[in-house]
Amino acid sequence: MKRNISFIIINLCMTLFVAQAQNTETITIEANKDTYIYGGVITDHTPGRLKSAPFPIGAAVSMDNLRNNTRYKEAIAREYTSITAENAMKMGSIWQARSRYNFRDVDYLVDFAEQNGLKVHGHALVWYKKSSTSMPQFVLDLHESGWGTKEEWKELMREYIHTVVGRYKGRVASWDVVNESIKDDGSERTEDIWREHIGYPDYIDWAFQCAHEADPDALLFYNDYGYDYAAAKRTKTDELIKGMLERGIPIHGYGIQAHIDLPNRSEGKFKDAIDQAKRLGVMIHISEIDIKCNPNADSSVTYTEALQKKQAALYNEVCASMMNVPEDRRFGITQWNVADASSGLSKNPDWPYLLGSDYEPKTPAYDYFVKGFNGVYIPWSQVVLNP
Ligand code: GLA
Repeated sequence: MKRNISFIIINLCMTLFVAQAQNTETITIEANKDTYIYGGVITDHTPGRLKSAPFPIGAAVSMDNLRNNTRYKEAIAREYTSITAENAMKMGSIWQARSRYNFRDVDYLVDFAEQNGLKVHGHALVWYKKSSTSMPQFVLDLHESGWGTKEEWKELMREYIHTVVGRYKGRVASWDVVNESIKDDGSERTEDIWREHIGYPDYIDWAFQCAHEADPDALLFYNDYGYDYAAAKRTKTDELIKGMLERGIPIHGYGIQAHIDLPNRSEGKFKDAIDQAKRLGVMIHISEIDIKCNPNADSSVTYTEALQKKQAALYNEVCASMMNVPEDRRFGITQWNVADASSGLSKNPDWPYLLGSDYEPKTPAYDYFVKGFNGVYIPWSQVVLNP
């Protein structure tokens, strides 16, 4: 009887969530028939539950940890179904000189993924950022010397994309082809050298065309931040993606990065963003999520019960909202690191992930995330510390 009432409550919650989220589309959420959720009460606290999600849950990995940290590797193999490189697959990390590529790290990562049955998401082929991992020095030098016509810059980009995507054809399932082309106010980035030499959105179209030529089976994503909080950027992103689809550019998905500062967040914002993004008709990837409890690195901040509950609530909202995207368009959710233990912020920690400082699932964040992919949305006020 208790169990029946619990199921009615689950169904009611799901119906409410669907009803709220529906606009013009009719979407039905099918809850998993899992053993550990009855009426939102979790009876299974074992690790490894992320693997049972109905879409891939992934993590960005650093090469140093992947090579040398046994607990890190064990946590990846236990929890995740997909990995991506934190930096190793960026242009600056790979392209040393026009005719010299360094694939050592990427080969290692792809081998590790294959040995552990994980998918690889490639990140990111083209990114305006002038940091050493994202922009090769020799490309910056070409830019600064005034080198090249539009056609020569297109050829430079094509050469890189063909070499990299071609090398991992059939082994890297998907790519962030272009990362971050739009500012928060919706304007194009004037500091973007690809835009300067090839034009906008021409360079984006071109990058996707090149990637598709190199691996016609790879799923291709445009990736950016701010869709969940910057209205003008959201409008411009919609315009960009709709335009690409109209021009017949092979874009398959949109990645919403989701580096989130928890203190500023309020209920429902992320759900709205996903509801809006799903209208684009492409796959949705929450591509770099971390929910930072101490974004200003304040040494007096501790991981209070209030922060833990709010973080769990938001992880649940993000994950449950993904369940509200039609099934064939749920690409997955990737965390921008493996665990709090490896977040690199040990001095003033901000506890951003689902796994904690011991690489084990964190209660309550992990548990509410699991509820999310079981289609159970919990209003923020109802989140408890020990579900
Ligand atoms: C962006 C990039 C990522 C990473 C983060 C910083 O989101 O897409 O590759 O560099 O910034 O952590």
